[in-house]
Amino acid sequence: MSFTRTVNEKALEVENILKEFLPAEEGFQKTVTQAMNYSFLAGGKRLRPMILQETFRSVCVKRGTDPREDALARPFMAAIEMIHTYSLIHDDLPAMDNDDYRRGRKTNHVVYGEAMAILAGDGLLNYAYETAIKAFGRCRGEEERIRVAKALEILAGKAGIYGMVGGQCVDVEAEKKGLTISAEQMSFIDENKTAALIEASMMIGAVLAGADADTVEQAEKCASNIGIAFQIRDDILDIEGDEQVLGKPIGSDEKNEKVTYVSYYGMDRAKEKVESLSGEAQDILRSIAGEDSFLIPLTAWLIDREK
Ligand code: IPE
Ligand code: IPE
Ligand code: MG
Ligand code: MG
Ligand code: MG
Repeated sequence: MSFTRTVNEKALEVENILKEFLPAEEGFQKTVTQAMNYSFLAGGKRLRPMILQETFRSVCVKRGTDPREDALARPFMAAIEMIHTYSLIHDDLPAMDNDDYRRGRKTNHVVYGEAMAILAGDGLLNYAYETAIKAFGRCRGEEERIRVAKALEILAGKAGIYGMVGGQCVDVEAEKKGLTISAEQMSFIDENKTAALIEASMMIGAVLAGADADTVEQAEKCASNIGIAFQIRDDILDIEGDEQVLGKPIGSDEKNEKVTYVSYYGMDRAKEKVESLSGEAQDILRSIAGEDSFLIPLTAWLIDREK
């Protein structure tokens, strides 16, 4: 079986978990919940909750502890995917990247209008925390409650101005600035707009499984590499990808005169960078997640992903 098929099957398993946590489409606010679920259920790769779950499982195996059917991890898997989905809805808005196609469907604002798309994003962001907080009710004892509190702190930090929102800020301000942007600003964009949520996924998986501080720090470094490589691959696919496969438009970065790793350093260096970052990430994974962790082939697969 090809690894792409393995990843797709895994994504479906993850999706079944995520679905347990979606809001009901009812009440006077029905439209906003419909708009939230429309984008959430459009079928992404589910990479962030997959990384969270696999890190959680790998650390449980290493520590010889019972994962208890991922009871603590599940609310956080849903929460990270909600925050990611909100970031996509807002990223596609006319005021930002102005794209009409996402996850193989018309974008949220095209279907529900801009006002409702903004609210759907707001709704998902808030519902992410409402969902993650449910993990407290699944704790057995004080030590697990401390892990959940720590995981919430990571989630909030990586999603905000010192994470994804901060990265989007610099991404938007760098439009049309080309090579006048510094190398530090260039790497800040990828590190924050994209790597931060992937770091959160891996760190939260580790923390919930009871990893020590050193392991969590290594998880952050590893996920930073994966996240930056992931964004550079996204920028490559914006040029070389197939819209039907990607489920979103190509040429969006050129249209908006975005500064990306590819526009800044060229295609060849971009491809080399994806390889080297992924290689380093796999080395760290061998030590923190173990030789048999699914995260190792997953990271290797991401280098050449077409979607
Ligand atoms: C798209 O993320 C936005 C980036 C950070 C590059 P994904 O490529 O993970 O999107 P989905 O979740 O599969 O739709
Ligand atoms: C997205 O970067 C980062 C987010 C935080 C959403 P892009 O703007 O390149 O993502 P796509 O290509 O629209 O998915
Ligand atoms: Mg963008
Ligand atoms: Mg975009
Ligand atoms: Mg892109």
